[in-house]
Amino acid sequence: MSKPSQPLKPGEKILFTVAGLFVVFAVIAFIIMQVVISKSDKPLFETKTHAELSEEGQLGSRLFRENGCTTCHRALRNGTNMGRTADLDGIGSRRTQEWLNAFLQSPESTYGSQTIDHGPGQRSAAYVSEMPKQDLHAIATFLSELISDQGSSSAAVPPKGDSPFIDSMVNTWAPKEWKEKYKDVRDDPAALKEANDRAIQEIQQP
Ligand code: HEC
Repeated sequence: MSKPSQPLKPGEKILFTVAGLFVVFAVIAFIIMQVVISKSDKPLFETKTHAELSEEGQLGSRLFRENGCTTCHRALRNGTNMGRTADLDGIGSRRTQEWLNAFLQSPESTYGSQTIDHGPGQRSAAYVSEMPKQDLHAIATFLSELISDQGSSSAAVPPKGDSPFIDSMVNTWAPKEWKEKYKDVRDDPAALKEANDRAIQEIQQP
């Protein structure tokens, strides 16, 4: 015999109503977002990196997807942003092909310290250093061809033009000595180029 159903208590009614409202709100917000995205011709997130892949780079791109790198990394709209991930878009503006190749083959000696996943032993990405050398070379070439555009978070130089946000951060937070010691490269194309060249030179010497 099943128990006769009891009417909901007032507390339960309130709880279910509030939970129901959350769901309704989430569904409405999702629909509005989809409509806005489909009506707008601007992408939701502007891409600030680009890639021009050589033949070896294209092979590397395929190997990158086929060898499980995308479980932890992201590159060219493939892979994950979740958890302990490194976003590798734009990495070619920070690391050279030689550095990447050396890292993939012997991560810890290239980092000069212990790693979380890439080092030897039981770690989840330990398999990477055991892959065939020519596959790692192709992947390193692919990664070195992922370039950040000016203004991306992985770029060496700041975005073009004035940014009221950056101005207010500099005014509020930069110590006075910095303002005397460093100059604002955004105002000066020659200084901007020099800063960019210096940053590129720095990545050339790991
Ligand atoms: C289990 C997760 C995981 C997998 C799978 C993985 N990685 Fe990583 N990767 C990491 C983590 C975490 C780091 C940071 C270094 C560390 O602690 O291991 C990293 C660092 C890197 C770096 C250095 C980034 C930098 O600038 O310091 C490169 C390059 C890289 N991974 C490439 C790859 C490639 C290529 C593959 C596939 C063949 C791969 N990874 C698979 C987790 C992973």
